[in-house]
Amino acid sequence: MKKIWQRAFLTWITGLAAVLAIGFVLGQTLALALLYTLGTLYWQLYQLYQFHSWLRRSGKAAPPEAAGIWGEIFDAVYRLQKKQRKSKRRMRQALNRIENSTAALKEGVIMADSNGNLEWWNNSAGLLLGLQRPTDRGQPITNILRNPEFFKYFSQKRFGEPLVIKSPSKEGVYLEVQTTLYDQNDHLIFIRDVTRLYLLEQMRKDFVANASHELKTPLTVIKGYLETLTMFKDNLPASMQRGIVNMSDQSERMEHLIEDLLLLSRLETNDKRENHQWLKLEEICEHIRKTADPMLTEQHSLSFVIPDNSYVYGAANELYSAFSNLVLNAIKYSPEGGHIKVQWVQNEFSGVFSVEDEGMGIDPRHIPRLTERFFRVDKGRGSNTGGTGLGLAIVKHVLIHHSAKLQIRSQPNVGSTFACHFPNDRVRQEAILSTVASEVIPEDAPSDVEESAKTSQASTTES
Ligand SMILES: Nc1ncnc2c1ncn2[C@@H]1O[C@H](COP(=O)(O)OP(=O)(O)OP(=O)(O)O)[C@@H](O)[C@H]1O
Ligand SMILES: [Mg+2]
Repeated sequence: MKKIWQRAFLTWITGLAAVLAIGFVLGQTLALALLYTLGTLYWQLYQLYQFHSWLRRSGKAAPPEAAGIWGEIFDAVYRLQKKQRKSKRRMRQALNRIENSTAALKEGVIMADSNGNLEWWNNSAGLLLGLQRPTDRGQPITNILRNPEFFKYFSQKRFGEPLVIKSPSKEGVYLEVQTTLYDQNDHLIFIRDVTRLYLLEQMRKDFVANASHELKTPLTVIKGYLETLTMFKDNLPASMQRGIVNMSDQSERMEHLIEDLLLLSRLETNDKRENHQWLKLEEICEHIRKTADPMLTEQHSLSFVIPDNSYVYGAANELYSAFSNLVLNAIKYSPEGGHIKVQWVQNEFSGVFSVEDEGMGIDPRHIPRLTERFFRVDKGRGSNTGGTGLGLAIVKHVLIHHSAKLQIRSQPNVGSTFACHFPNDRVRQEAILSTVASEVIPEDAPSDVEESAKTSQASTTES
């Protein structure tokens, strides 16, 4: 590289020296030097013109012939262009392959910008959602998928879990929508036809609900006869007496199981949903205390630390079921006794209902499975305590309905803490609410009651 420039400079200097020498001989040094310089300038301009015209012809043809430094420049640019064309071709091929493969996908793929305006979609997405090219390009996806659940999911960016919705274009088709953010918060949306799975799941829920409901009547009859038999059990032989006690225990257990199953299927199917309203936590806890009292032994102590006038926005029975299960679990799984602390802590971000015990604790490997239906850490232990393993599944579903989350911390032989985290729009701490606590407020519309928060006091109830 350097050599070429040296050679070019040397050629020019030699030429100039020769011209000066001739000029000196002819006595026209200055005129010849000027002529030489102008000639050189003209030659450079001509090369520049050649270069420009070649570039304007898109530079696809071979570059014009040129010697020296210009030849080098032409060749270098030509090589660079060839390389660029090659990588462009390769990129286009890769892009075509990606486009062809996504077009062949059964799943719908949609690319939308950070505002949710449609940029690109494959054929399956077009079919599943009834998208039209080019009319729908640039349209907000919420205009195409006019579904309140989808609107909430998309506008609140709840992309943690997939959403199942009805197809807007195909009757009886259910779609699972999963969104991922990429680049500068652009949206990559996957759409899957889950009709078969959805219907199967629906069938399972219906079956459990119907079977549980049908079991209720015969069980009531059996329980009725058992109660009558219990009244006369003193006249029966000892072996039969034991049998009756056993049957009564088991029928109690079965009734508990059926109630839990019915509650779970109600929670899952969104059937007969309770109205949500502002509920005073002290009242819920008082109710729980009354239920828990008979289960406590001498070794147990139960305390409630609930600040005055704390409210949670939700369904009274559902929250009572969830919270009481946590408290009853704490008692059941603390056979040696110990202190159980029920607490409500609220800050500007959330409200947390927690139950802390000093019981047997749970091995960390079981924690992720605790909210599965019928899951019990120790099956033997479960039957001793009469547990069915549905309690925490109910807690999970109730919390989902309240946009809340369950957090479990536990250490074997040390104790456990089960904490329910409620979002801040579902919790309030103010005196004025006591007047509206019984009013029915539509779901997901926490009342905008005047913010007249009073200094809260922690009340501790020992039992
Ligand atoms: N506080 C706790 N300490 C130790 N183990 C617990 C605690 N809470 C729950 N578990 C474990 O988690 C399992 C599931 O609890 P869950 O409440 O779902 O069912 P259950 O109490 O056995 O029955 P159910 O609540 O339906 O009567 C329990 O069987 C128990 O092994
Ligand atoms: Mg339980």
